[in-house]
Amino acid sequence: MNVYDSHRIASMLNKMGFSEAKTPQKADLVILNTCHIREKAAEKVFSDLGRLKMIKDERAKNGLDTIIGVIGCVVQAEDEEICKRAPFVDFATGPLTYHRLPEILRKITKSRGTPIIDTEFPAESKFDYLPQNSSMGGSSFLAIQEGCDNFCTYCIVPYTRGIETSRSIEDVINEARTLVAGGSVEINLLGQNVNSYRGVDASGKEHDLAYLLRRLADINGLERIRYTTSYPADVNDDLIACHGEIPQLMPYLHLPVQSGSDKILKAMNRRHTRSQYLDIVARLKDARQDLQFSSDFIVGFPGESDEDFENTLDLVNKVKFCQAFSFKYSRRAGTPAAEMPNQIDENIKKERLGILQDLLASYQLKFNNDSIGQIMPVLFDIKGRNKGELIGRTPYMQNLHAEAGKEYCNKIVNVKVTGANVNSLSGILEED
Ligand code: 5AD
Ligand code: SF4
Repeated sequence: MNVYDSHRIASMLNKMGFSEAKTPQKADLVILNTCHIREKAAEKVFSDLGRLKMIKDERAKNGLDTIIGVIGCVVQAEDEEICKRAPFVDFATGPLTYHRLPEILRKITKSRGTPIIDTEFPAESKFDYLPQNSSMGGSSFLAIQEGCDNFCTYCIVPYTRGIETSRSIEDVINEARTLVAGGSVEINLLGQNVNSYRGVDASGKEHDLAYLLRRLADINGLERIRYTTSYPADVNDDLIACHGEIPQLMPYLHLPVQSGSDKILKAMNRRHTRSQYLDIVARLKDARQDLQFSSDFIVGFPGESDEDFENTLDLVNKVKFCQAFSFKYSRRAGTPAAEMPNQIDENIKKERLGILQDLLASYQLKFNNDSIGQIMPVLFDIKGRNKGELIGRTPYMQNLHAEAGKEYCNKIVNVKVTGANVNSLSGILEED
């Protein structure tokens, strides 16, 4: 979501006459788009701001002015901290108000010296005010839903991104058409809780994600559709059916489970049990046999015993995720879990994370090894480190490196997989 927001902010600045500077030293305006999900991400903002202050001072010696802005969830949660620890910041806005940037920048030139802070949860939707989105290349993100009403007890997102809101069907379809016209063959629909999408059509009737997916599948030239991130309890029957019916829907689904222990899931305020999660996975697999799963895990949630952790390992052994993201529980001020008793020792968290990541990596490697010899359509969109090399993604979202000329960039090409490691594949382009 932050990558998408940054892209839209860059487009907006472009429209205002800004162009991208190669380094912060050359920039008249520097904006940090921030994440508050774990302590490490939030703290990084303050160390980055320290470095930017030095650049600002250095440029000032040469008579150059530098505007520094902070956007995103750290602002929403820690605006006072920013004013206290980084008073040289010129403006700070939350993730829901960055469409006001042109107005904010105009104010700065007039009243320099007082940081402008905007942490309002606005009545208007920023999407109604931003200039039309542009393609990000062969694959583009498209935010369809924002915010979260789930209030998992560890998570700061409902407090920073606010309550769930959905963009209208027409708004999404129009943006998708623009992205495809701009060269995107893949669209990844985004939302903090994307499958709770409820968008209205022109007549005011509400529709769910399954309806939207079917509408998107009718767009000529849109060859791949993905959506992320889903909440297990909000996977409905029609969405499951879509996976069997819509060929453009890629056979890879990120479906965070967080823990394999019912006791911990309850304490996390997740609206699903371990067996319900396994049942959803099985039903999705029934609809589309080659569907692969990825997930998010948190280890060391308050009260997590060895047995709870074993249950998480056991769930991994059952689902055999082809990819996963796993984190040590991070205490976020203002969330219920931060106040829970039985906080887990850092060393135990570290040890559990190591064990979990080794297990996840073994399944990822096995999945990748099993791909060797197969021919897969790969969407290339990034230059590789070596000359003449491109990086793309398989339908199962694995990165694949291949020798390929730039004429293949932003295209879907058949590739024979020849090599594999935990995080990526390598392959050779198939002759037409
Ligand atoms: N500590 C650790 N991980 C967290 N996540 C969300 N909040 C926290 C936290 N306080 C993880 C969840 C979520 C992912 C985006 O980040 O696994 O799915
Ligand atoms: Fe946070 Fe996701 Fe839970 Fe919402 S569903 S509170 S975004 S972890």
